Amino acid sequence: MSKNYSEEELSQLPFRDESEELEERISDLLSRLTLEEKFKLCSGRQLWHTKPIKRLGIKSFTMYDGPHGVRPDRMGEVKSTYFPSAICRAATWDPNLSYEFGKAIGEEVRELGAHMLLAPGINIQRTPMNGRTFEYQTEDPHLNKILAVATVKGIQSQKIAACVKHFICNNQETDRFTASSEVSERALQEIYLPAFKATVQDADAWSFMTCYNKVNGIYGSENFNLLRERLMDNWGFRGFTVSDWNATAYTSTEGCVKAGLSLEMPTAKKLSKKNVSKAFQEGKFSEETIDDNIKRLLRVMFLVGLFDHKRTLPSGYRNTPEHQAISRKIAENGIVLLKNKESLLPLDISKLKKIAVVGPNLNFKLIEGEKIGRNEVLSGGGSSVNFPPYEITPLEGLKQKCKDRIEIIETPSKADVTIIFAGLNHELGMDAEGEDKHNFELPLDQIELIKNTVKQNPNTIVVLINGSPLAMNDWIHLVPSVIEAWYGGMEAGKAIANVLFGDVNPSGKLPITFPKKLSDSPAHMSERTYPGVEKEVFYDEGIYVGYRHFDKEQIEPLFPFGYGLSYTTFNYENIKIDKEKFSKNDTVTVSVDIVNTGNRSGTEIIQLYVQDIESSADRPPKELKKFEKVKLEPNERNTVELNLNFCDFSFYDDSTHSWIVEPGTFNILLGSSSRDIRLQGKIEFLG
Ligand code: BGC
Repeated sequence: MSKNYSEEELSQLPFRDESEELEERISDLLSRLTLEEKFKLCSGRQLWHTKPIKRLGIKSFTMYDGPHGVRPDRMGEVKSTYFPSAICRAATWDPNLSYEFGKAIGEEVRELGAHMLLAPGINIQRTPMNGRTFEYQTEDPHLNKILAVATVKGIQSQKIAACVKHFICNNQETDRFTASSEVSERALQEIYLPAFKATVQDADAWSFMTCYNKVNGIYGSENFNLLRERLMDNWGFRGFTVSDWNATAYTSTEGCVKAGLSLEMPTAKKLSKKNVSKAFQEGKFSEETIDDNIKRLLRVMFLVGLFDHKRTLPSGYRNTPEHQAISRKIAENGIVLLKNKESLLPLDISKLKKIAVVGPNLNFKLIEGEKIGRNEVLSGGGSSVNFPPYEITPLEGLKQKCKDRIEIIETPSKADVTIIFAGLNHELGMDAEGEDKHNFELPLDQIELIKNTVKQNPNTIVVLINGSPLAMNDWIHLVPSVIEAWYGGMEAGKAIANVLFGDVNPSGKLPITFPKKLSDSPAHMSERTYPGVEKEVFYDEGIYVGYRHFDKEQIEPLFPFGYGLSYTTFNYENIKIDKEKFSKNDTVTVSVDIVNTGNRSGTEIIQLYVQDIESSADRPPKELKKFEKVKLEPNERNTVELNLNFCDFSFYDDSTHSWIVEPGTFNILLGSSSRDIRLQGKIEFLG
């Protein structure tokens, strides 16, 4: 019989003792739960909460979307800081900024009295057509890993659980509820899993969200191999798994429980008390299994302080100037200068009299209370929508910058310079959850707008606001300057103006390849590879995702991975590798001098790629293994050191099911992008 406790008695129970060891507290609480109560904890209620167990003082554990700002409700009554899209944050290549973002958003979750943020989303950007490319970080597993780890650490520094999603191979929206991602073990190991694994092993992520899709024929929420074997047993995950919202629709109760799904969201279906109880009575799984699932959820409840006194927890903050400044900093650092012929940029505020501004993304505003997906350019796109207290549009940003100095007009022919704010938005069929993009090209009217504007004024700059690669072949040769500004959060307008006028020297680099045409992209080789045939999507490209494919097939991209210009120039000099040969336990130190050879201070992102030149296995021509951001004043020189270890040279060997490095020679490539290698050296692995 379960005992009823008074408030006083409850507060004296061992699990309430904050000085007690975590695992002791969890075991004590678990031992007090009846089977029925355990079953009750397996599913959520009212969209964002777990069910409370009042008898034991277990409150609801609350989780909110999303990756770019906290959103407790869908109507926008609660405002929160709107940060740039993940792809913009990734374009900063700056783990410190990802940490700052994570910490800030964690503080906002805490202020709202919730316990978990449904972010970060770290699926690999396999195709530019994925409706959620903007919500994910990059096509490259190393960059993905570094930024994901920093983000999770930032969020959890506030004792708020990060929920890393969507595990795994949820790389397109087309058929997302039913399709199976058919992917090889090597591609999983080398491309899709590393960042997820690192969030467990390097950042102790407290929660994982399962994917909607199947992976090699089995739904993510009941995938024993993915959840129980890899995530929990192999990687040592101590947190809990939660289904994506309604991702259990086509699964079985038994399958989910056995695989290790702790929590079904948003409401009870396959893991309803009735269903779990029935499956248990029928002997479909043991009490030990359900105990483990529940223990994981309880563990995270303790980690976020659900049972602790408020005064022992970090304070929450929301909509602070500090958070808004972080949002702007990410936007400024994420903007990528794609083209700048004849140095039209930066604009000189003292020399210009009139600027013409046009284009559909000049002045969009969130319309409060509107249905998600409509009238949103900057924030939105499905579950990552949030509602900021204000939003500085590109027009507002320019107005603030030009006030009393430059006149802003609408007629290109009468202006010194014209700026076109083009791109996409978060309507379905563009950069939005729920459907993939319908087009790889800019909308036709925008292409026409660019062509007509350039005729009227050759000094035309295109600022793109979008979250995924798009074709530019129809128009890019016509304009001297192009900026990729992404969806830059609530301070985007300010960030863009700062870059246009040179208050900020752009330093962002593309975290994804921009192909010239869609068929150049590895996921678009056939219908099998995208969108799939009979609900199967074959990842035939294997490990050749992103630049790995463009390099292998020697396809010239429109803009390569790692690319981004600056208003200054950098020289790479004196590559030094501290040894000629190395063995398994050695660290290899590569150093290089970077010199700012222009006349403005600027930041360069130095990229180190490894190339295996003698290998029994097929390997990509180059793989990113390290990068470093360095800020330099004009003529300043700095030596950057990058350390490599054995793992940085390894590949996943299908025959032995392990990571190996074969003896032989490797090239170390140092570059300003994946296609702009400035220096290289050699090193031999001895075995
Ligand atoms: C999305 C998740 C999101 C969840 C809750 C799902 O449709 O795929 O990313 O966290 O909804 O809104």
